[in-house]
Amino acid sequence: MTRIAVYPGSFDPVTRGHADLIRRSLAFSDQVVVAVAVNVSKQPLFTLEERVALIRETVKVPNVEVRSFDGLLVDFAKQVGASILIRGLRAVSDFEYEFQMALMNRTLAPALETVFLVPAFDLTYLSSSLVREVARFGGDVSALVYPAVQQALKAKFKSLSGSKA
Ligand code: PNS
Repeated sequence: MTRIAVYPGSFDPVTRGHADLIRRSLAFSDQVVVAVAVNVSKQPLFTLEERVALIRETVKVPNVEVRSFDGLLVDFAKQVGASILIRGLRAVSDFEYEFQMALMNRTLAPALETVFLVPAFDLTYLSSSLVREVARFGGDVSALVYPAVQQALKAKFKSLSGSKA
């Protein structure tokens, strides 16, 4: 039996923390489907195509597939035959939202098991929103994201500042 795990998120943009969790997920699953949400609650910095492309470019790991999804996560998980749902837990502040989401997903799809993973210690404080904020003001994010993402952030903020001028 092939164990398929879905790792969903906004990935705006993908960070070294996300890549760490993808690799960790392969310890107990045969295939990981990274599921990039089409509709994210806030206006994303990167388009869906950019978010997907950056993951494909930076996380080149066997048995990992990157796809986008629209609608309910549980429907996507069913469509790809996943039995595991991966989420990262960094701090206590993540817990309430993650707990609610896991219980809602269980109500919708009882056979889909949410597994929470703890990232590597040095990546615990990391989030895409912090990366965006630091990069927006020209800070060094090289320890937090892969070089291709760093370049993409620079290019994005340059084009945004140009379009405002
Ligand atoms: O990286 P994020 O923004 O924390 O990811 C949140 C995401 C995309 C996993 C969540 O919003 C989601 O699953 N959206 C799809 C719609 C859905 O199924 N919502 C109900 C979840 S309980």
